[in-house]
Amino acid sequence: MKQILKVLLLMLVTGSAGFAFLYSGIYPMGADSPHTSLTYWALETLREHSIERASRTLVLPDLSSPDLILAGGADYNEMCSACHLEPGKRGSDMSAGLYPQPPNLTIPPFLHRVDDNSERTSNLAREQFWVIKHGIKASGMPAWGKTHDDQRIWAMVAFLQQLPRLDSAQYQILTARGNTEEAHH
Ligand code: HEC
Repeated sequence: MKQILKVLLLMLVTGSAGFAFLYSGIYPMGADSPHTSLTYWALETLREHSIERASRTLVLPDLSSPDLILAGGADYNEMCSACHLEPGKRGSDMSAGLYPQPPNLTIPPFLHRVDDNSERTSNLAREQFWVIKHGIKASGMPAWGKTHDDQRIWAMVAFLQQLPRLDSAQYQILTARGNTEEAHH
């Protein structure tokens, strides 16, 4: 009986401490002051596992289709490059100020993931589709599925598979809007 009382008391104390913390306003909410490593780890773990689980059963189209890649290029350039950059750009005012930081989707560390046809590459593409469609809570990543159909989102995923291999000139060609009229209509 005494044990139970102790446990209840402990729960009450930690519970009120939790509430006091939430209402105190002392947690810094500004995008310019990073999370503690514990908060960061917790959020990242939550995000990774959630996206992995939600995207697992998606069926991939043929991501090497030129029509898809071209259609995705123009959309990427207009809607995504301000945050996720383009070949030859190291940062933008938008990408610098966001927290969490938008990953640079053009850089070589991404390359090893797209060079083979492994299961891992397919899973990555599924996750990219899911993230583009649904966005990510409490980050700058919008949910594009509210305004764009699945076909257009897969097109951007197809383009993302090519993006790390492109130099600046190839990027300009692949993202020109004229390329895409056919693919869209
Ligand atoms: C306003 C800035 C912003 C725009 C515009 C934006 N994103 Fe993002 N995006 C983010 C941020 C920030 C993250 C990282 C979120 C996180 O780590 O929790 C992200 C994450 C992603 C990821 C996951 C990458 C990974 O490795 O985890 C993909 C894929 C992605 N965005 C694709 C796109 C595409 C495609 C577009 C255009 C249709 C786009 N984003 C537009 C800010 C943006």
